[in-house]
Amino acid sequence: MSKVFRVPLAPARGGATTAPRAPHPATTGPPRCGIVAGCLSPHPPHLIYAENPPQNEPRSTGGWETLRWAYERLRARIREVHKPDVLIVHAPHWITMVGHHVNCVPNPRGISVEPIFPHLFRYRYDFRSDVELGEAIAEEASGLGLVTRTMRDPRVRVDYATIGALHLANPAWDIPVVSLSANNNPYFYSDASLEEMEVLGEATRRAVEATGRRAVLLASNSLSHLHWHEEPELPEDMEREHPYNNHQYRWDMKLLEAIRRGPTAPLRELIPEHIEATASETKAGSLTWMLAAMGWPKVAGDVLGYGTIIGTGNAVVEWLPEGSRHG
Ligand SMILES: [Fe+2]
Repeated sequence: MSKVFRVPLAPARGGATTAPRAPHPATTGPPRCGIVAGCLSPHPPHLIYAENPPQNEPRSTGGWETLRWAYERLRARIREVHKPDVLIVHAPHWITMVGHHVNCVPNPRGISVEPIFPHLFRYRYDFRSDVELGEAIAEEASGLGLVTRTMRDPRVRVDYATIGALHLANPAWDIPVVSLSANNNPYFYSDASLEEMEVLGEATRRAVEATGRRAVLLASNSLSHLHWHEEPELPEDMEREHPYNNHQYRWDMKLLEAIRRGPTAPLRELIPEHIEATASETKAGSLTWMLAAMGWPKVAGDVLGYGTIIGTGNAVVEWLPEGSRHG
């Protein structure tokens, strides 16, 4: 790991960096606080394009239904079972070259455009941030030695990976958000590990617990990531949609079989192997951050659906904390 992105621990802080805060008012209803679920929630713009929400300008005739139906089931669980008072998303296309940034703009508003597929995704967003929790995550991460900043400039356009995962998980946008950037370090240093994401996950968990939040985590990553370079005339022409090749597909299945089997600890080794084999987008660290925040629980993940989008592999997966299960 490149040491330029770590700062020495401040000895006086001793690890437990944030004092307990008053419980968030929204948590006084449901009995349990903390991280109540973690979700692998990929963000390809095609899924939102296919759903024709009013916020997105382009219109479609549908497509990629298997993944969209998986997201429908995930939404129902978030709304009816988890009832979080915050969604925390880590997304690979809010890239920060130095360190980790936390969006602390209270009400981000604007248009998010996918730069490669602007004909599919021009999305008007308007949502609320949980600034107190965002500040707490930044504080905890700094205390654990990560270079971390709060981002407070309302002119910064929110990237499509953040918007995509959040829309697909909660199209009503009625749950506050904390949005984390992806440090670009792993893409520049071939020997970079995902170790920093373990630390960011730990900081996230500490901040959630210290603020008394009930949080659902979203890891906005696709799996295998080789993709076509030519698009069909009708982007949602499903006759043209299939895995990039069998190698990519088999590796996605290897990872998903391990996820379905549980526990999560073996994924610590398998995720880097999968990245090496498939150029997986999990290289940005979102999945590792999320599982680390949950303490690498001894549970199986529930794979709600898998499908390809322009050849890339995408899965919607839900993990529950140890000791909890759907009723
Ligand atoms: Fe992406």
